[in-house]
Amino acid sequence: MASVLKVCGGRPLHGTITVRGAKNFVPKAMVAALLGDGESELHNVPLISDVDIVSGLVGLHGARVDFDQESGVLHLDPQDLHTAHIVDIDAHAGSSRIPILFCGPLLHRLKEAFIPDLGGCNIGGRPIDFHLDILRTFGAKIEKKPGGIRIHRDGPLTGAVIDLPYPSVGATEQTLLTSVKAQGITVLRGAAIEPEIMDLIHVLQKMGAIISVDTDRTIRIEGVDKMSGFVHHALPDRIEAASWASAALATGGDIFIKGAHQPDMTTYLNVFRKVGGAFDVTNQGIRFYHPGHALQPIVLETNVHPGFMTDWQQPLVVALTQADGISIVHETVYENRFGFTKALRDMGAHIQVYRECLGGLDCRFGRRNFHHSAVVSGPTPLHGAEVIIPDLRGGFSHLIAALAAEGESTVHGINMISRGYEHFLSKLRALHAHIE
Ligand code: EPU
Repeated sequence: MASVLKVCGGRPLHGTITVRGAKNFVPKAMVAALLGDGESELHNVPLISDVDIVSGLVGLHGARVDFDQESGVLHLDPQDLHTAHIVDIDAHAGSSRIPILFCGPLLHRLKEAFIPDLGGCNIGGRPIDFHLDILRTFGAKIEKKPGGIRIHRDGPLTGAVIDLPYPSVGATEQTLLTSVKAQGITVLRGAAIEPEIMDLIHVLQKMGAIISVDTDRTIRIEGVDKMSGFVHHALPDRIEAASWASAALATGGDIFIKGAHQPDMTTYLNVFRKVGGAFDVTNQGIRFYHPGHALQPIVLETNVHPGFMTDWQQPLVVALTQADGISIVHETVYENRFGFTKALRDMGAHIQVYRECLGGLDCRFGRRNFHHSAVVSGPTPLHGAEVIIPDLRGGFSHLIAALAAEGESTVHGINMISRGYEHFLSKLRALHAHIE
């Protein structure tokens, strides 16, 4: 795919598109499949590069992957699992954070793993200290090596009591994927409870795991000796759905998103309505549209589930540039997720970023050197510009801004968007965008 897109903006997006399985769930279900004795079958798998990266990595470890892109059905057979060569692993790691989640399944199956240095979007430090502490608590030994970490176990891994300092999605998944086959009981306190994590728990339960979730972010896992394969239909991508919904709002458009699922998007829908957007929920999906009157400014804080997702923030900010008044957005999950606003300013938006915690409670990033609050004054007409995509969600936001802006924009680095947005070019065409 060419990596430069010309966008002739200023036209409402309208039409119907479909979202399939969630980027932040599907690769993890593929990793979970490594724990099974037999083949797993995952439905609703999207064609995104994170799925390719994980297919490549599990393939290097001897798992057989068969992905029918048309039907979205992926089979994964982990029966011949073996240790992979470090140089090969390095070459396949790509710009993803998923490899760190291979630790538990590979430790159980092979007693060792090499995990390459992680990629992923540049939206903050993104350390892995929680992951390493958790693995050590289960009894794993970790050594830093050039290009990654080597991890091994001498005896069986054993269940543990873990208190997460922050409800990290990845650290919760690390605990789940390691504890299900560890000896004894694991208690995880302060866990993340995102819908993608609940779906991972459903997969693990189908495989034979015993997991209960309490109402106070405590997850209890009773280790089992054997796990089987699973058949599962992945939950839809609520980040992709919300991104297109924000695009409908920013461009004054009307998009029916087949597959969008109300229960996973309640918080987004409340905010969308407060901004002045309209939506109709049906059994097939959700229609998101601009009702024709002025949009309202809001005060918004991102947070872990059930709060407003950090990944919804960037596309929505583009729509807020078209609201009538001053919006305040406080980002509390990542310390550095407003870098994308510079390009929006170049396109005519009025956005200031601040170090202070604005509009809400003090967060972990307050009184430190992180520009993690934004003030957006609108409405401001946007004009076309030359933009370089910085990260996945910021990049999609730049695309939305270019679609909303009068005139032509040149967007560089659009390959990055295919990490998390399936067929986004054909979806743009289906929505009558003028692109080349
Ligand atoms: N954190 C630590 N130490 C750790 C792990 C996390 O300090 O060892 C901190 C992070 O720096 C961050 C916070 O905890 O400030 C939350 O990070 P979390 O671990 O929850 O994020 P993640 O698992 O790395 C996943 C998604 C992200 C999404 C976050 C939050 C995947 C592959 N990535 O990341 O998705 O923003 O959860 O919901 O599932 C995206 O899709 O664009 C994306 C960035």
